[in-house]
Amino acid sequence: MVTTTPTRPRRANGTTVALKGAMAISGILFVLFVLLHMYGNLKLFNGQAAFDGYAEALRDFGYPYLPHGGFLWIQRIVLLLALLVHVYAAVALWYRARRARATRYVIHKRLVQTYSARTVRWGGLILLAFIVFHLLQFTTHTIEVGGSFDSPYQRMVVAFAPEHWYVYLAYLVAIVTLTMHVRHGAWSAMQTLGANSQRRQRAINLGAYAVAAVLLIGFMLPPTAVLLGFVK
Ligand code: HEM
Repeated sequence: MVTTTPTRPRRANGTTVALKGAMAISGILFVLFVLLHMYGNLKLFNGQAAFDGYAEALRDFGYPYLPHGGFLWIQRIVLLLALLVHVYAAVALWYRARRARATRYVIHKRLVQTYSARTVRWGGLILLAFIVFHLLQFTTHTIEVGGSFDSPYQRMVVAFAPEHWYVYLAYLVAIVTLTMHVRHGAWSAMQTLGANSQRRQRAINLGAYAVAAVLLIGFMLPPTAVLLGFVK
Protein backbone atom coordinates (compact mmCIF):
# COMPACT_ATOMS: atom_id res chain seq x y z
CA MET A 1 0.00 0.00 0.00
CA VAL A 2 1.24 3.47 -0.81
CA THR A 3 1.17 5.81 2.16
CA THR A 4 2.44 9.13 1.09
CA THR A 5 1.76 11.32 4.09
CA PRO A 6 1.11 11.55 7.79
CA THR A 7 -1.82 9.60 9.25
CA ARG A 8 -3.09 12.71 11.07
CA PRO A 9 -5.57 14.72 8.98
CA ARG A 10 -4.07 18.00 7.93
CA ARG A 11 -5.69 21.10 9.47
CA ALA A 12 -7.96 22.74 7.01
CA ASN A 13 -6.95 26.26 6.06
CA GLY A 14 -8.99 29.41 6.63
CA THR A 15 -10.74 29.55 3.25
CA THR A 16 -11.81 25.91 3.45
CA VAL A 17 -13.22 26.48 6.94
CA ALA A 18 -15.08 29.60 5.73
CA LEU A 19 -16.53 27.69 2.75
CA LYS A 20 -17.58 24.78 4.97
CA GLY A 21 -19.08 27.26 7.43
CA ALA A 22 -21.08 28.88 4.61
CA MET A 23 -22.27 25.41 3.51
CA ALA A 24 -23.25 24.48 7.04
CA ILE A 25 -25.20 27.71 7.70
CA SER A 26 -27.05 27.62 4.36
CA GLY A 27 -27.61 23.87 4.89
CA ILE A 28 -29.15 24.49 8.32
CA LEU A 29 -31.46 27.09 6.74
CA PHE A 30 -32.63 24.49 4.20
CA VAL A 31 -33.20 21.93 6.93
CA LEU A 32 -35.35 24.45 8.87
CA PHE A 33 -37.32 25.21 5.71
CA VAL A 34 -37.92 21.56 4.80
CA LEU A 35 -38.97 20.75 8.39
CA LEU A 36 -41.57 23.56 8.26
CA HIS A 37 -42.67 22.53 4.77
CA MET A 38 -43.05 18.93 5.93
CA TYR A 39 -45.14 20.09 8.89
CA GLY A 40 -47.37 22.07 6.51
CA ASN A 41 -47.81 19.07 4.20
CA LEU A 42 -49.01 16.94 7.12
CA LYS A 43 -52.07 19.24 7.30
CA LEU A 44 -53.33 17.20 4.35
CA PHE A 45 -54.62 14.79 7.01
CA ASN A 46 -56.82 17.58 8.45
CA GLY A 47 -58.83 17.86 5.23
CA GLN A 48 -59.11 20.22 2.31
CA ALA A 49 -60.19 23.32 4.27
CA ALA A 50 -57.26 23.01 6.70
CA PHE A 51 -54.67 22.36 3.96
CA ASP A 52 -55.86 25.10 1.61
CA GLY A 53 -56.35 27.44 4.58
CA TYR A 54 -52.76 26.86 5.64
CA ALA A 55 -51.50 27.60 2.09
CA GLU A 56 -53.55 30.81 2.09
CA ALA A 57 -52.35 31.79 5.58
CA LEU A 58 -48.75 31.53 4.35
CA ARG A 59 -49.57 34.14 1.74
CA ASP A 60 -51.24 36.41 4.33
CA PHE A 61 -48.51 35.95 6.94
CA GLY A 62 -47.40 39.33 8.32
CA TYR A 63 -50.29 41.25 6.71
CA PRO A 64 -50.82 44.28 6.84
CA TYR A 65 -47.15 44.95 7.65
CA LEU A 66 -46.25 42.88 4.60
CA PRO A 67 -48.24 42.88 1.34
CA HIS A 68 -50.26 39.77 0.40
CA GLY A 69 -47.70 37.10 -0.57
CA GLY A 70 -44.85 39.22 0.88
CA PHE A 71 -43.74 36.58 3.36
CA LEU A 72 -43.50 33.95 0.61
CA TRP A 73 -41.36 36.29 -1.48
CA ILE A 74 -39.01 37.00 1.44
CA GLN A 75 -38.74 33.25 1.98
CA ARG A 76 -38.06 32.68 -1.74
CA ILE A 77 -35.30 35.32 -1.80
CA VAL A 78 -33.64 33.95 1.36
CA LEU A 79 -33.81 30.38 0.00
CA LEU A 80 -32.43 31.45 -3.38
CA LEU A 81 -29.51 33.30 -1.74
CA ALA A 82 -28.84 30.29 0.49
CA LEU A 83 -28.92 28.03 -2.58
CA LEU A 84 -26.40 30.23 -4.41
CA VAL A 85 -24.07 30.24 -1.38
CA HIS A 86 -24.48 26.47 -0.91
CA VAL A 87 -23.76 25.61 -4.56
CA TYR A 88 -20.89 28.12 -4.86
CA ALA A 89 -19.22 26.76 -1.70
CA ALA A 90 -19.78 23.16 -2.86
CA VAL A 91 -18.13 23.80 -6.23
CA ALA A 92 -15.26 25.75 -4.63
CA LEU A 93 -14.65 22.98 -2.05
CA TRP A 94 -14.81 20.28 -4.71
CA TYR A 95 -12.24 22.21 -6.77
CA ARG A 96 -9.92 22.68 -3.78
CA ALA A 97 -10.22 19.01 -2.81
CA ARG A 98 -9.41 17.91 -6.35
CA ARG A 99 -6.33 20.10 -6.47
CA ALA A 100 -5.12 18.94 -3.08
CA ARG A 101 -6.13 15.27 -3.16
CA ALA A 102 -3.08 13.57 -4.65
CA THR A 103 -0.82 13.56 -1.62
CA ARG A 104 -2.86 14.44 1.39
CA TYR A 105 -4.33 11.38 3.03
CA VAL A 106 -3.57 7.80 3.78
CA ILE A 107 -5.27 5.70 1.07
CA HIS A 108 -8.13 4.16 3.10
CA LYS A 109 -9.15 7.49 4.60
CA ARG A 110 -9.21 8.99 1.15
CA LEU A 111 -11.59 6.30 -0.09
CA VAL A 112 -14.04 6.93 2.75
CA GLN A 113 -13.94 10.68 2.14
CA THR A 114 -14.30 10.27 -1.62
CA TYR A 115 -17.34 7.99 -1.19
CA SER A 116 -19.06 10.44 1.13
CA ALA A 117 -18.18 13.46 -1.00
CA ARG A 118 -19.48 11.73 -4.12
CA THR A 119 -22.77 10.79 -2.44
CA VAL A 120 -23.26 14.37 -1.28
CA ARG A 121 -22.44 15.82 -4.71
CA TRP A 122 -24.66 13.46 -6.71
CA GLY A 123 -27.38 13.92 -4.12
CA GLY A 124 -27.07 17.69 -4.49
CA LEU A 125 -27.49 17.45 -8.26
CA ILE A 126 -30.53 15.15 -7.95
CA LEU A 127 -32.06 17.56 -5.42
CA LEU A 128 -31.46 20.55 -7.72
CA ALA A 129 -33.25 18.72 -10.54
CA PHE A 130 -36.07 17.79 -8.15
CA ILE A 131 -36.50 21.39 -6.94
CA VAL A 132 -36.83 22.63 -10.55
CA PHE A 133 -39.44 19.93 -11.30
CA HIS A 134 -41.22 20.55 -7.99
CA LEU A 135 -41.52 24.32 -8.54
CA LEU A 136 -42.76 23.76 -12.10
CA GLN A 137 -45.38 21.43 -10.69
CA PHE A 138 -46.61 23.13 -7.50
CA THR A 139 -45.57 26.79 -7.75
CA THR A 140 -45.79 27.83 -11.41
CA HIS A 141 -48.20 24.97 -12.36
CA THR A 142 -46.34 24.56 -15.64
CA ILE A 143 -46.43 20.79 -15.20
CA GLU A 144 -49.96 19.73 -14.31
CA VAL A 145 -50.35 16.12 -13.27
CA GLY A 146 -53.92 14.94 -13.83
CA GLY A 147 -55.46 18.36 -14.54
CA SER A 148 -55.57 21.96 -13.41
CA PHE A 149 -56.90 22.86 -9.92
CA ASP A 150 -57.00 26.03 -7.86
CA SER A 151 -56.89 24.11 -4.60
CA PRO A 152 -53.42 22.99 -3.40
CA TYR A 153 -55.18 20.06 -1.65
CA GLN A 154 -56.66 18.84 -4.92
CA ARG A 155 -53.34 19.25 -6.73
CA MET A 156 -51.70 17.01 -4.11
CA VAL A 157 -54.46 14.40 -4.11
CA VAL A 158 -54.50 14.14 -7.89
CA ALA A 159 -50.70 14.18 -8.26
CA PHE A 160 -50.16 11.18 -5.97
CA ALA A 161 -53.23 9.18 -7.00
CA PRO A 162 -52.46 5.50 -7.82
CA GLU A 163 -52.58 6.09 -11.59
CA HIS A 164 -49.70 8.56 -11.14
CA TRP A 165 -47.52 6.09 -9.23
CA TYR A 166 -44.47 7.31 -11.18
CA VAL A 167 -44.87 10.77 -9.57
CA TYR A 168 -44.91 9.05 -6.18
CA LEU A 169 -41.76 7.14 -7.15
CA ALA A 170 -39.98 10.33 -8.27
CA TYR A 171 -40.82 11.98 -4.93
CA LEU A 172 -39.68 8.91 -3.03
CA VAL A 173 -36.29 9.02 -4.78
CA ALA A 174 -36.03 12.77 -4.09
CA ILE A 175 -36.92 12.45 -0.40
CA VAL A 176 -34.55 9.48 0.14
CA THR A 177 -31.85 11.56 -1.58
CA LEU A 178 -32.71 14.50 0.68
CA THR A 179 -32.34 12.38 3.82
CA MET A 180 -28.99 10.97 2.63
CA HIS A 181 -27.84 14.47 1.74
CA VAL A 182 -28.71 15.78 5.21
CA ARG A 183 -26.95 12.78 6.79
CA HIS A 184 -23.80 12.98 4.68
CA GLY A 185 -23.80 16.78 4.74
CA ALA A 186 -23.61 16.71 8.53
CA TRP A 187 -20.83 14.10 8.40
CA SER A 188 -18.91 16.10 5.85
CA ALA A 189 -19.23 19.35 7.82
CA MET A 190 -17.97 17.56 10.93
CA GLN A 191 -14.69 16.71 9.23
CA THR A 192 -13.66 20.34 9.34
CA LEU A 193 -15.92 22.09 11.81
CA GLY A 194 -15.47 21.31 15.48
CA ALA A 195 -15.57 17.53 15.22
CA ASN A 196 -12.61 17.04 17.51
CA SER A 197 -14.38 15.24 20.34
CA GLN A 198 -15.89 11.81 19.79
CA ARG A 199 -18.86 12.63 22.00
CA ARG A 200 -19.64 15.69 19.90
CA GLN A 201 -19.33 13.66 16.69
CA ARG A 202 -21.73 11.06 18.05
CA ALA A 203 -24.25 13.74 19.10
CA ILE A 204 -24.15 15.44 15.66
CA ASN A 205 -24.43 12.05 13.94
CA LEU A 206 -27.42 11.06 16.06
CA GLY A 207 -29.07 14.43 15.44
CA ALA A 208 -28.51 14.08 11.68
CA TYR A 209 -30.01 10.55 11.69
CA ALA A 210 -33.02 11.77 13.69
CA VAL A 211 -33.68 14.71 11.33
CA ALA A 212 -33.23 12.41 8.30
CA ALA A 213 -35.74 9.87 9.72
CA VAL A 214 -38.28 12.60 10.57
CA LEU A 215 -37.97 14.05 7.04
CA LEU A 216 -38.35 10.66 5.36
CA ILE A 217 -41.43 9.67 7.34
CA GLY A 218 -43.00 13.14 7.56
CA PHE A 219 -42.63 13.96 3.86
CA MET A 220 -43.69 10.54 2.56
CA LEU A 221 -46.74 10.08 4.82
CA PRO A 222 -49.14 12.38 2.87
CA PRO A 223 -48.26 11.05 -0.64
CA THR A 224 -48.37 7.46 0.67
CA ALA A 225 -51.81 8.03 2.22
CA VAL A 226 -53.03 9.40 -1.13
CA LEU A 227 -51.45 6.55 -3.11
CA LEU A 228 -53.10 3.96 -0.86
CA GLY A 229 -56.47 5.70 -1.05
CA PHE A 230 -56.69 6.84 2.61
CA VAL A 231 -56.86 10.49 1.54
CA LYS A 232 -59.04 11.42 -1.43
C1 HEM B 1 -43.28 14.59 -0.49
C2 HEM B 1 -42.62 15.71 -0.63
C3 HEM B 1 -43.20 17.06 -0.96
C4 HEM B 1 -44.49 17.43 -1.25
C5 HEM B 1 -45.73 16.55 -1.31
C6 HEM B 1 -44.48 18.86 -1.48
C7 HEM B 1 -45.60 19.62 -1.81
C8 HEM B 1 -45.59 20.97 -2.09
C9 HEM B 1 -46.75 21.77 -2.43
C10 HEM B 1 -48.19 21.24 -2.51
C11 HEM B 1 -46.34 23.03 -2.64
C12 HEM B 1 -47.24 24.24 -3.00
C13 HEM B 1 -47.78 24.84 -1.74
C14 HEM B 1 -48.67 26.03 -2.03
O1 HEM B 1 -49.20 26.18 -3.10
O2 HEM B 1 -48.83 26.83 -1.08
C15 HEM B 1 -44.90 23.05 -2.47
C16 HEM B 1 -44.10 24.17 -2.61
C17 HEM B 1 -42.73 24.16 -2.46
N1 HEM B 1 -41.93 23.11 -2.08
FE1 HEM B 1 -42.56 21.24 -1.72
N2 HEM B 1 -43.21 19.32 -1.34
C18 HEM B 1 -42.38 18.26 -1.03
C19 HEM B 1 -41.03 18.28 -0.80
C20 HEM B 1 -40.23 19.39 -0.96
C21 HEM B 1 -38.80 19.41 -0.75
C22 HEM B 1 -37.98 18.21 -0.33
C23 HEM B 1 -38.39 20.68 -1.01
C24 HEM B 1 -37.01 21.27 -0.96
C25 HEM B 1 -35.90 20.58 -1.09
C26 HEM B 1 -39.54 21.45 -1.37
C27 HEM B 1 -39.52 22.78 -1.71
C28 HEM B 1 -40.63 23.53 -2.03
C29 HEM B 1 -40.57 24.93 -2.39
C30 HEM B 1 -39.31 25.80 -2.47
C31 HEM B 1 -41.89 25.33 -2.65
C32 HEM B 1 -42.37 26.69 -3.16
C33 HEM B 1 -42.81 27.60 -2.06
C34 HEM B 1 -43.15 28.92 -2.71
O3 HEM B 1 -44.07 28.98 -3.51
O4 HEM B 1 -42.43 29.85 -2.42
N3 HEM B 1 -40.65 20.64 -1.32
N4 HEM B 1 -44.49 21.78 -2.13
